[in-house]
Amino acid sequence: MKTKQTIAVIGAAGSMGSAISRSLSKGNYRLLLYANQQEKTRTLIGQIKAVQPSADVEAMDCKVQASWEADIIILAVPFEAEKEVAEKIREMANQKIVISISNPLNSSYDGLVTRPDTSAAEELQKLLPNSKVIKAFNTSFAANFSTPVIDGKQADAFIAGNDDEALQTVAELVAVAGFNPVVAGDLSASRILENMQLLLIRLGMKYNYNWLAGWKILHN
Ligand SMILES: NC(=O)c1ccc[n+]([C@@H]2O[C@H](COP(=O)([O-])OP(=O)(O)OC[C@H]3O[C@@H](n4cnc5c(N)ncnc54)[C@H](OP(=O)(O)O)[C@@H]3O)[C@@H](O)[C@H]2O)c1
Repeated sequence: MKTKQTIAVIGAAGSMGSAISRSLSKGNYRLLLYANQQEKTRTLIGQIKAVQPSADVEAMDCKVQASWEADIIILAVPFEAEKEVAEKIREMANQKIVISISNPLNSSYDGLVTRPDTSAAEELQKLLPNSKVIKAFNTSFAANFSTPVIDGKQADAFIAGNDDEALQTVAELVAVAGFNPVVAGDLSASRILENMQLLLIRLGMKYNYNWLAGWKILHN
């Protein structure tokens, strides 16, 4: 049996952090959950244990400690908070997988704040040069995690990164969460993935998808 990996979720009480934590609690992982407000983490853990009594999940009161103990670190925080978090965990994240889920949307949701020649994931990689940054989950809405099957089809979840082994590890994690993992390319493919979610958000607002929308590549 594969060694159990430890995953730190920073921002675990948010929409995405809690959705990802709930999903991954079904897998063979040890989850370390960090949120600014600790009572929210305890409430989340109570909800997870009610559904999954054997879940290996614990609350952490320090994101640096959580990152130290983790093999994989998921930053479930807004793009604007990533720099501050990255600076705190940089040493602890050395050689580890750090998952970037963010979509760097502007305040009117009609564009990205990043320049066209970069992405949130690539900016995070610059902040964490000794980590293996992988883009994942940014093309899935938090509301999709409870049922990653939309219109009868298992939603795709795109992944991008520069390290093949790390991509494989994250693909397995995405599959545990119930999505069909699709490796889109190296980390620069995050530019496309972040723009894809901008499009889906805009379509969702125009056609009232109610956040229950996702991506599926149709092919023969
Ligand atoms: N919502 C979606 O469907 C969706 C889909 C794909 C990707 N994303 C991406 O996922 C990320 C999180 O989005 P969300 O919708 O989950 O937002 P959210 O519900 O507002 O949650 C963000 C969480 O980040 C925490 N946080 C903020 N600054 C922090 C810091 N400096 N250190 C530690 N924690 C911090 C917040 O904690 P406090 O409230 O206690 O400050 C909050 O719990 C964003 O980058 C977003 O682009 C979201």
